[in-house]
Amino acid sequence: MHIEKIIEENKQGQSLVSEQTDGNHKKLFIESYGCQMNMNDSEIVASILAKEGFNTTQLLEEADLVLVNTCSIRDKAEQTIRKRLQYYNKVKKINPTMKVGVLGCMAERLKSKFLEEEKIVDLVVGPDAYRDLPNLIEEVDAGRNAVNVILSKEETYGDVSPVRLQSNGVSAFVSITRGCDNMCTFCVVPFTRGRERSRDPESIIKEIRDLKDNNFKEVTLLGQNVDSYLWYGGGLKKDFNKASEIAKATAVDFAKLLDLCAKEFPKIRFRAFTSNPQDMSLDVLHIIAKHENICKYIHLPVQSGSTRILERMNRQHTREEYLELVDNIHKIIPNCALSQDIMTGFCGETEEDHQETISLMQKVKYDYGFMFAYSERPGTLAAKKFEDDVPLKIKKSRLAEIIALQQEHSHYRTKQFVGNIVEVLIEGTSKKSEAHWKGRNTQNTVVVFPKENYKMGDFVDVKIDSCTSATLIGKAVSYSNH
Ligand code: 5AD
Ligand code: SF4
Repeated sequence: MHIEKIIEENKQGQSLVSEQTDGNHKKLFIESYGCQMNMNDSEIVASILAKEGFNTTQLLEEADLVLVNTCSIRDKAEQTIRKRLQYYNKVKKINPTMKVGVLGCMAERLKSKFLEEEKIVDLVVGPDAYRDLPNLIEEVDAGRNAVNVILSKEETYGDVSPVRLQSNGVSAFVSITRGCDNMCTFCVVPFTRGRERSRDPESIIKEIRDLKDNNFKEVTLLGQNVDSYLWYGGGLKKDFNKASEIAKATAVDFAKLLDLCAKEFPKIRFRAFTSNPQDMSLDVLHIIAKHENICKYIHLPVQSGSTRILERMNRQHTREEYLELVDNIHKIIPNCALSQDIMTGFCGETEEDHQETISLMQKVKYDYGFMFAYSERPGTLAAKKFEDDVPLKIKKSRLAEIIALQQEHSHYRTKQFVGNIVEVLIEGTSKKSEAHWKGRNTQNTVVVFPKENYKMGDFVDVKIDSCTSATLIGKAVSYSNH
């Protein structure tokens, strides 16, 4: 295969790569699949390897080391990565010395089995073992395969300054927790990312200060479960009860952390991702309401509108409790946008359960959502305990129904902005038109408007004239007072 052809195919991959050069000489190609946590982890990996003499490159064909940060959340995500590995095989024919490593959730789930199943792989590294990469790469350079999938109780990479790959220079992600203790029965994350631990608030503030000094304007605090953030000097969330009285008294929870960030950086706009209903406190809602610079938007996965299914999923809340939380959000934070994750066809889901999901959506009218058909994951409680008994055809038809309904609701929500003025942070050029800026308002809705004399990173007031279900279209009226 010609190199041009390979480069062309490579461009079609969903890779997230970046070029960054300094005096280093080895070339690292790193790409990420799955959630924002993975994107952020790849930035941490790039930072660790920069100290080892690696520059990142966008050209797979010239890489000495290729790392793919993987996702296990659904079977389809794993299949995508396996296809990608087949493609690396082709590239290896023109770049025979290139080494291939897999990082992230699939590495943790499959461990050394990965080496047997995918011959192209030289290196398997789980999400808590990235500091060991320099040693593991040495092993690989010496001709041996290397594996480290040990999960940690403490690792938060708090002291590692991520190399900002693919950054627009305006908005950045800062991770605040790792792992998850919720043990939803369908979810592989607690097994692949380990127990929940929180990052030292001082290191979080330091990272945000560095971003501010580099002109960043928006920070998204990131975690599998941000509302469950709890710093008491380090260690697992589940061991908090064993902490000293002083540690307990001076502990920082998510409400305190948000308050701290918003006060310390009044010019930075803050978002947080992901919230979980069972961990969200009213304190957090009051802090969001109190600060202008905390965005009025909450991603609040629900998964199902049926209490019976929520119980099977071990979601730790009922339909009624979720709806009460939504009511509280609207009371405490006027104009707060909400988005959802919903899954169709979980084990034992009947048509009646599905209709409950539909009716919950109708009550909430989410601004948008991420919707999936249930995919059984090996090793999870659901895989062990329940039968995956909803036929794929029904999972898919229910999924299509909720996607169509969400589309209607999204349009209903965007229409509410028409005629209003919204504050937008400019993040870049619109994908569809060079002559338009693209940004988001506080509710996280995408806004496009003619460029005129504004620039990236400006906060601008935009009068909304029209909308689609996903985008607001308007015209800038002035700089905002941000
Ligand atoms: N099958 C389908 N969707 C899943 N999710 C998590 N696990 C699975 C699974 N086994 C979805 C949930 C979660 C989102 C990140 O991915 O909706 O909130
Ligand atoms: Fe998975 Fe549930 Fe944790 Fe989210 S809260 S990562 S769905 S176990």
